[in-house]
Amino acid sequence: MLFQPHLLAEVRDRFHHVERCPFQGPRVFFENAGGSLTLKSVVARTAELQAIPDNQGRSNMASAALGEIIAQGRADMMAMFGANSGTVFIGETGTELLGRLIRNATWASSGRQLIGSALEHPATYSAARRWADLAGKTYRQVPFDVATSVVGVDHYEPALGPDIAVATIIHASPVTGMHVDVGAIAARIRAAAPDSYIIVDGIQHAAHGSIDVEAYDIDGYVVSGYKLFSRHNYGVAWVSDRLATAPHDQLLGAPADVWELGTRDTSAYACCSEVVRYLEWLGSQSVGGPVPSAQDRPASRALLEAAAVAIRGHEHGIVEAMLWGTGGLPGLADLEAVSVVGPVASEHRSGMVSFEIEGLAATDVVDRLNADGVRTHARRSDYYSAGVLQPLGIDSCVRASAAHYNSVAEVEQLLATVNRLAGA
Ligand SMILES: Cc1ncc(COP(=O)(O)O)c(C=O)c1O
Repeated sequence: MLFQPHLLAEVRDRFHHVERCPFQGPRVFFENAGGSLTLKSVVARTAELQAIPDNQGRSNMASAALGEIIAQGRADMMAMFGANSGTVFIGETGTELLGRLIRNATWASSGRQLIGSALEHPATYSAARRWADLAGKTYRQVPFDVATSVVGVDHYEPALGPDIAVATIIHASPVTGMHVDVGAIAARIRAAAPDSYIIVDGIQHAAHGSIDVEAYDIDGYVVSGYKLFSRHNYGVAWVSDRLATAPHDQLLGAPADVWELGTRDTSAYACCSEVVRYLEWLGSQSVGGPVPSAQDRPASRALLEAAAVAIRGHEHGIVEAMLWGTGGLPGLADLEAVSVVGPVASEHRSGMVSFEIEGLAATDVVDRLNADGVRTHARRSDYYSAGVLQPLGIDSCVRASAAHYNSVAEVEQLLATVNRLAGA
């Protein structure tokens, strides 16, 4: 269900640059898969903490305060990941964290086989291929279903056996926007190879639905700050107790479960807390409950889940408007000259519609939309997207990626240009 207008207005008010690009002027933002809008509270907290000169672990009040902010950021991210065990830490980017988890898991495991799927972002399969080669193991990539544009248990099944060292799963594709059933795939991998390390790329999914690492029975889950209403320059990883204490890159003598390398950016942890506070507020709007204190993990989790349901409902309404039209304009699925990537009606679709317009290059469509003040992105057969586009038989497509702060009026602006370009 779409948000009520007053709630949408309150949501939008909490973000920077919702309606105006500081470089271009008025614009609609449907480039959320490239990086979400940023919470105002994140920018303010970053500026505040970047100005503090003190380091962590010193005997003074400032240092103690920084330590508390980091501890709170960790607790908030544990709630966000749905984790009661394991540990969370900040790294340079999502790509760096996924690479580090896969590298260390590959060396720590006695299994000989790494697997992943063709739906994945290169952040996982590049690392898996490289470290499989260097460790004298093999990497196998299973295909996805080109009809549904989703990967499932059936695709992993033929590649499974007790010798699996590391398995990677993408939670949602940044090309098609479809999410996959991580829990079902992980359960099947775990049954075949109980000692394998299962690592999930949640970077595209995190802004669109809840995360529940305890239920998935996995070993690693990674998100990126800038895809989750925060900012660039950090990602967050959760690792299971088993992976946390497996041999990994760290300073000699450090506690066995420490994964951070060097001095931590307190503001990145503080930004995690700002995101969680925001999502709790959003969740409280839909269930009408009080916003919990920052330390109240179970209450926080319930509100985070409520926020995920509310986000999913609003995004569903936005995607329906994109597909079936609004304001008297036909939608992407109605237009003869437009083809939507993947099945139009799919329970897996989360906040995104990728499409082509007959006779027009995707890059030209993106430029024309930009000229009309609508920001989208072209996915081409480059090293980021070819692995997904080629099996689908597509050379390039336009990606319109929404988030829960987008409005139906913004969809109307997108459709106005698309209808014109499609000759409708
Ligand atoms: C699914 C997925 N994995 C990995 C990445 C890379 O994330 P980062 O830019 O944080 O390295 C992206 C970025 O688009 C993504 O969508």
